[in-house]
Amino acid sequence: MEKTRIIIDCDPGIDDAIALLAAFVSPELDILAITTVCGNQPVETTSRNALKICELGARADIPVHAGSHRPLMRAPIRGQFHGETGLGSCVLPEPAKKIEPQRAVEFLIDRLLRAGNERQPITICALGPLTNIAMALRIEPEIARGIERIVMMGGAYREPGNRSMTSEFNVLSDPHAAHIVFSSEVPIVALPLDATHQVILTPAHVKQFEAVSGRISQAVSQLMASWDRNQVERYGSRGGPLHDPLVIGWLIAPHLFETRRVRVFIEYQSELCMGQTIADWFDKSGLNPNTAIVTKVDAAAVIEVFLDRFSRYQDTVMQ
Ligand code: BDR
Ligand code: CA
Repeated sequence: MEKTRIIIDCDPGIDDAIALLAAFVSPELDILAITTVCGNQPVETTSRNALKICELGARADIPVHAGSHRPLMRAPIRGQFHGETGLGSCVLPEPAKKIEPQRAVEFLIDRLLRAGNERQPITICALGPLTNIAMALRIEPEIARGIERIVMMGGAYREPGNRSMTSEFNVLSDPHAAHIVFSSEVPIVALPLDATHQVILTPAHVKQFEAVSGRISQAVSQLMASWDRNQVERYGSRGGPLHDPLVIGWLIAPHLFETRRVRVFIEYQSELCMGQTIADWFDKSGLNPNTAIVTKVDAAAVIEVFLDRFSRYQDTVMQ
């Protein structure tokens, strides 16, 4: 099987952590590196959390590069629902693994330039604000040749925002970065709230994951239980939306997702609508589509895929 070569840019974050753990045991994916960004927590914390999750998942072999301390223009906002450490009630040991000396943006530039020269482009999984990726694209636009596509969690199209009336957290955190990325002509697959709100991880699911996840079951159940919003009026049940893991889900089981290709624009000037993602559903702009927006997800089947992945932790051994 030819593996998809990926770099995961993230801000762990409970759902980022679940996404990483799912990716670690997915044989379809070759994880070249993890890069971290300021988002749910300051970058020092998201980086430390990434190291901890690598050790939890027995994947200390994956290099972790720390990225941007701040969004491009705006003051940082912090994630809600992730708790004080960013990992909810899940307390993990301080990691022995260290951050790589090379910064995330420099790493992205070097690695993606090489990928372009070797004609072996890499998929970027973007699970947080797009700051690192925008910086790398601005410093060295040639890296676009080394990017197969960006599969990103973010945005809200026909769904209201989750951090403001109009806007989703990752895009609102750094709308200028999102504007740069969506204007870059790099192909984008977007998993917005419209998609992630179709896949609610209920308390019953959490029990199922706890039962199958072998030696990481306690951590998995603590992460997932901390994710319960208890907002039945909004989500139709107890539980929380499986945001970031759906990026990994799309990569390993794309047949479970429906997409529509459109042109996307980012609002980065209006305070009221800052970070809004606008899709040109009916070709008003006359511009080529730049994004495949996921519009529909087979939620039950996706949960089954993740249960299968987490059951692989029964067989993995600590490194
Ligand atoms: C996104 O915001 C963050 O809090 C989550 O990790 C996810 O990436 C959802 O809006
Ligand atoms: Ca995230």
